[in-house]
Amino acid sequence: MKKINITTKAILFDDISQLSKEDAFLIEKATEARQKAYAPYSKFNVGAAILLDNGEVILGNNQESAAYPSGMCAERVAIWKAGSEYPNMKVKKIAITAASENTKVDKPVGPCGACRQTLSEYEINQKEPIQILFMGEVGQIVKTESLLSLLPFSFDSSYL
Ligand code: THU
Repeated sequence: MKKINITTKAILFDDISQLSKEDAFLIEKATEARQKAYAPYSKFNVGAAILLDNGEVILGNNQESAAYPSGMCAERVAIWKAGSEYPNMKVKKIAITAASENTKVDKPVGPCGACRQTLSEYEINQKEPIQILFMGEVGQIVKTESLLSLLPFSFDSSYL
């Protein structure tokens, strides 16, 4: 038997002013996307902005449905939009912001498990890390240098 430690490196920024120009721009784009979210049931609006290596920015937001489980997260809307429009393009980074109509979201909102799994497929295929930036409506921003660092012991096609 052996105990192991798994560590994840992340950078915590106090606010958007501490980010690089590119990262701040992408966070702003995610917030722009968030304003168009369709989340009448949860009232939790999420926006995602993806920067491709050709400089293109792809936006997505959560889309809900009266049949609740049929909705989709912002991150997957954005990554599938990117994958379907630019199948050969690499993803450099994704920024995510979230705001609730019920309460002030003042801590970083990380991507859900299903979104991490979905994004990992793209990181593995492109053989280059995807940087992840996420925040709430206000407050700190978390940045990690790769998606897989958020998904230890992940499932991938090698098991199939
Ligand atoms: N949501 C996202 O868009 N991304 C996440 O990573 C977590 C949750 C959405 C799904 C749903 O529309 C709402 O937030 C509340 O769960």
